[in-house]
Amino acid sequence: MNHPIAEDRRLPTIQLVHWIANPVDFIYRNLGEEGNLFVAQIGRLSPAVFICHPAGVEEVFKLKHDRIAGVSPNLLPVVGSSSLLTTDEPEHQQRRRLILPHFHGDRIRVYREIMREVALSVARSHRDWGQLRSFAQEITLKVISKIVFAAGSERADRLQTKLAELLQTLTSPVRSSFLLFPFLQKNWGSWSPWGQFLRLRQEVDEIIYEIIRDRRQNFNSDRTDILSLLLSARFEDDTPMSDTEIRDHLITFLIGGRETTASSLAWGFYWAAKYENLREKLLEDIAKHGDSGPYLDAFCKETLRIYTPTLISTPRQVRDRPVRVLDVEFPAGTFLLPCIYGVHHRPDVYPNPYKFDPDRFIRRPYSSSEFFPFGGSNRRCIGDALAMMEMKVVLAAILPQYKMAIDPVDVHPQRFGITISVPDRLQMQWVDRPS
Ligand code: HEM
Repeated sequence: MNHPIAEDRRLPTIQLVHWIANPVDFIYRNLGEEGNLFVAQIGRLSPAVFICHPAGVEEVFKLKHDRIAGVSPNLLPVVGSSSLLTTDEPEHQQRRRLILPHFHGDRIRVYREIMREVALSVARSHRDWGQLRSFAQEITLKVISKIVFAAGSERADRLQTKLAELLQTLTSPVRSSFLLFPFLQKNWGSWSPWGQFLRLRQEVDEIIYEIIRDRRQNFNSDRTDILSLLLSARFEDDTPMSDTEIRDHLITFLIGGRETTASSLAWGFYWAAKYENLREKLLEDIAKHGDSGPYLDAFCKETLRIYTPTLISTPRQVRDRPVRVLDVEFPAGTFLLPCIYGVHHRPDVYPNPYKFDPDRFIRRPYSSSEFFPFGGSNRRCIGDALAMMEMKVVLAAILPQYKMAIDPVDVHPQRFGITISVPDRLQMQWVDRPS
């Protein structure tokens, strides 16, 4: 089998601007008829090979880490050098082994009630027309702050406000450009995007370090928030994590967990408001099974398939020896990008791919290289189970009690930093709510 490889032949600057301004259209344009692989120039990640075929994705996920490195250089100024997103092997696996158990199984079941309470209290406080995106963001920021810090103190409230401002900068299409163009990382005063980012990062860091210090002094081993768990974690040589390392992990969870989950929740509400018949099916399923029914599960998966919050997995860079993917050889230095959006819209895997159809997940199972909103292999999202649980718990809490109207009814996804979400002009209001 020989897979031709398409190439974006426009000027590199035009490719990069297109990728930043409208990544969905960029992928759609480059996929071409063959739709398996294409190569493009997108700034620091060049040459980038977008892999849009399930067999190719599986091959990349199976490559051992001595052949490829997972890299997110653009996020270094935000998440720091100890984050899972910025460390290479073997340090990455050592940290992952320590952190992963806190995000799975029984450990996360204790967060279900937090999610339900937050969802209902945000829904109650929402009265007039407002942005659907900020409604979802308010829920996910409150949930992740409570899970990470057991928020509730004055300090944690201050942190939430500052974090919301920092995230605003990082998700603004224009103000976040410094992440992609390092030459914009110049401090020309507090009015410049980089100067503003540095000020907010420092304010956020100061509060995080205060919270860490306070928690070390008043340590309580019964606490179940992530910060307390990181404080008691020990590496294999029995050393604890430093404050700087804990800061890097916390900011990664807060940033990684807020925007992506808000995007998937916003789309979930959008589809339920847009299609009355699907909402009815959801309500029947929730009435029978609560937040663990098969239709709610399929609905959440289809929401994550059609407009997956992150279009690509973490880029994998070929180390010193070439690797082969789909029978094509790629030299050292190439960035391999498993393209989630590209695979999720293949008509041979998902017939009628632009139709929102949750039943497709009931009709047949999909493999981990056909459906992979959370990426895969040693870099798979550590928040996957938490995010799926949050989507289900929040939708199951709100939909039976509140009916949402949206305006406009037809929208396209928009880029916000490293995620795509519903556009800000999409407004929502309750048309039916408990009195
Ligand atoms: C719907 C919600 C979410 C989506 C769609 C999502 C998606 C992703 C994707 C695609 C990756 C890259 C995986 C790869 O390269 O193979 C990733 C990595 C990551 N995500 Fe998420 N994520 C979500 C929620 C969360 C949450 C709630 C957290 C934390 C609380 C989180 C923390 C992380 C971290 C730490 C990584 C880096 C893992 C590593 O490199 O070892 N994410 N996520």
